[in-house]
Amino acid sequence: MRGKFITLEGIDGAGKSTHHAWLTGFLKSLGKEVVATREPGGTPLGEKLRTLILSEPMHLETEALLMFAARREHLDKLIIPALTEGKWVVSDRFTDATHAYQGGGRGLKHEKIAILEKWVQESFQPDLTLVFDLPTNIACERLARTGNAPDRFERETSEFFDRVRDAYLQRANAEPHRIKIIDAADSMDCIKKKLEEIIITIC
Ligand code: TYD
Repeated sequence: MRGKFITLEGIDGAGKSTHHAWLTGFLKSLGKEVVATREPGGTPLGEKLRTLILSEPMHLETEALLMFAARREHLDKLIIPALTEGKWVVSDRFTDATHAYQGGGRGLKHEKIAILEKWVQESFQPDLTLVFDLPTNIACERLARTGNAPDRFERETSEFFDRVRDAYLQRANAEPHRIKIIDAADSMDCIKKKLEEIIITIC
């Protein structure tokens, strides 16, 4: 039986990575074989592209093209083979991030992203997308507290992240069956409970 593809999304600082680790463990406790991965990245070539994308200034269309180049590789080498083998794949970001960051954040036209999406993945979509939602000012404070050197995206303005957040929320409203919003300001226990309830519905 084909596995399920779950993606985690949200603005930088919303706590996605912590929940990614927890969710992977939870799925394993349910007896699933799980592959944890991320975008941009997830393959040796994709990780090289990630390094470039997160550090080198570039035209916004180059940025979108590189995201989809890495994604093409990710789908071919990791995501599709794992799903076919019955494994569950949990990815820290996928195409909704391109709509939110390059579309909402940078202003790249939706039509252009849609063309690349169709080209690279045809009708392939995640079975479930979890958007960790947090007001921008709180996310920025959390990010600053990590003390890590910010990458090219993390250095963006709060207005940029407001637009990214709005784009995620709009997408969730347009596709409520696939995309679930999680209030990332809730306690960890509360979020875990919510995630468990959602996951059970797709098991
Ligand atoms: P992120 O998950 O935030 O990595 P980390 O938690 O290690 O900092 O992802 C890296 C950045 O890539 C993030 O700022 C959003 C950006 N991104 C896009 O702009 N478009 C995309 O399509 C993807 C997948 C990521």
